Amino acid sequence: MSVLILVGAQWGDEGKGKVTDWLAERANMVVRYQGGSNAGHTVIRGGQTFKLHLVPSGILYSHVQCVIGSGVVIDPSALLSELGALQKGGISLERLSISRTAHVTLPYHRRLDHAEERQRGGAAIGTTGRGIGPTYTDKVNRAGVRLLDLLDREVLTARLRAFLPPKNALLTQIFGEPPVDLCETLEEYLAFGEKLRPFLADVSLDISKAVRRGDAVLFEGAQGTMLDLDAGTYPFVTSSHPVAGGACLGTGIGPTAVDAVLGVTKAYTTRVGSGPFPTEMRPNEAENLRMAGGEFGTTTGRARRCGWLDAVVLQHAVRMNGLTSLALTKLDVLDTFSEVKLCVAYRLHGKVIHHVPDSVEDLAACEPLYDTHGGWLTSTSSARNPDDLPAAAQSYLRAVSAVVGVPISLVGVGPEREALIVNESPWSGRH
Ligand code: IMP
Repeated sequence: MSVLILVGAQWGDEGKGKVTDWLAERANMVVRYQGGSNAGHTVIRGGQTFKLHLVPSGILYSHVQCVIGSGVVIDPSALLSELGALQKGGISLERLSISRTAHVTLPYHRRLDHAEERQRGGAAIGTTGRGIGPTYTDKVNRAGVRLLDLLDREVLTARLRAFLPPKNALLTQIFGEPPVDLCETLEEYLAFGEKLRPFLADVSLDISKAVRRGDAVLFEGAQGTMLDLDAGTYPFVTSSHPVAGGACLGTGIGPTAVDAVLGVTKAYTTRVGSGPFPTEMRPNEAENLRMAGGEFGTTTGRARRCGWLDAVVLQHAVRMNGLTSLALTKLDVLDTFSEVKLCVAYRLHGKVIHHVPDSVEDLAACEPLYDTHGGWLTSTSSARNPDDLPAAAQSYLRAVSAVVGVPISLVGVGPEREALIVNESPWSGRH
């Protein structure tokens, strides 16, 4: 078997949870490499619903080792409540390990996230408010607290004494917020540390052993390529690296260990938060798609912005991640549309371009150029083989694959685990 990285090819919410769930069943290890509790997906198993934000969905399989890498930022209270819910649902946590060097979201990170968003006013990013940006900022600024720091009273006291006063000055003097109490935070986070102690490990060693043994190792990206700090629509991005390269940074594997990269895309496009979105539909049309696809956020409940599939964005994702194949989800959501549009290029200042421009101002000025396909107007949800799909749906998929330049290995036709068509194995991707 091999090493596979799964990434979002759009702005997140591509249905990665369902694809990860399917892949996890065939994996020995599933590793989360970036982001934090801003991510979220719902997995339904045996009539029970699990909402996962930090824990890899492989946890629902008794044979899968689950790992949270050092590139992930951890809000211990969010993680502990997720672990509690899993235990309550009868899921064993014995196979979970968490990097000792993952950075910790502290109370001032969440407060600063909200305060900074308020200050941005009309230019707000639309963050999830989970303190993700401020946590990564402190990591990069070498002013972060890591999980291993929660295991030692002296160390944590020293860290908080150094880091808290400037944060409190910011909160009180710039944002007019109450300060964060040092003693309260210290005791609360030491207690979190004790609860998390059994899970903490130098996970990079375990990952590298699994890779060397030839295990099937799945690296599970959160968010999506267009929300990547460098590859995405900066500044309307998240503060981590959802792209495939982020898996190397966030777990300690080298790029030569990677065999295949699977990009997950919906059959259309959605986005939450602000920022340019060339194929965004007008409100009425968007509402149809939103209702058909249940496009409301798992983490925040926010209504997602909706639009047609953007193959220019997908080509960007192929380039930024080295995608070897695509998983296209939620094809069934398009079943009732009499025509289905595919954006194949943009017009920018009178010129036709086939790439995502590097400035958000230019991307906002792009007019999408569509190929229009006939809809299939029949249910695809019971299709289990490529040939079960109506001819018009098959032709749409062929068009997507041709424009994007990679094969479509998996097609999702419904929320159930079995509602998946396998064209080819996404694991054997290198070409
Ligand atoms: P943050 O990650 O909370 O800082 O939010 C930054 C941007 O990323 C905002 O536009 C969020 O809506 C978006 N974002 C963060 N996590 C997700 C996700 O899991 N799905 C979709 N969008 C996300």
